[in-house]
Amino acid sequence: MRDDSVSGSIDWDALTAVAVEAMGTAYAPYSRFKVGVAGLVDDGRIVSGCNVENASYGVGLCAECGLVSELQRSGGGRLVAVSCVDQHGNSLMPCGRCRQLLWEFGGATMQLKTPEGILPMSAILPQAFGPDDLIERAE
Ligand code: THU
Repeated sequence: MRDDSVSGSIDWDALTAVAVEAMGTAYAPYSRFKVGVAGLVDDGRIVSGCNVENASYGVGLCAECGLVSELQRSGGGRLVAVSCVDQHGNSLMPCGRCRQLLWEFGGATMQLKTPEGILPMSAILPQAFGPDDLIERAE
């Protein structure tokens, strides 16, 4: 069930703790760069992901891939807040592709914990291409 009160009381420390736990499960034997991410869903669920690399380097999966997969698999909903961390537990900016993944499920208002503080996705991925464009520009 959707709960608008969820966004007003984000426990960033708890969310980041889940991201750190997820980071600990990362499979990153090639880069040795472990990443974890956790997201608060609008129904109060917390979903998470870690990076999963591959011997065919280019097909490795970022942590955010796992997060959006778990989001959908566990019931869908909208991402309200996301915290992504490196192997030291410090906030890490999602790569460009992963900003797009997060946009799909969080949109402009989703909050992201960044090294420069909490920022909305509208600041992280300005002028984003998203689901609305497909509707507005359809014939
Ligand atoms: N990585 C992520 O998991 N998410 C990001 O947003 C940035 C990069 C991973 C991919 C790769 O396994 C490792 O970090 C080094 O690039």
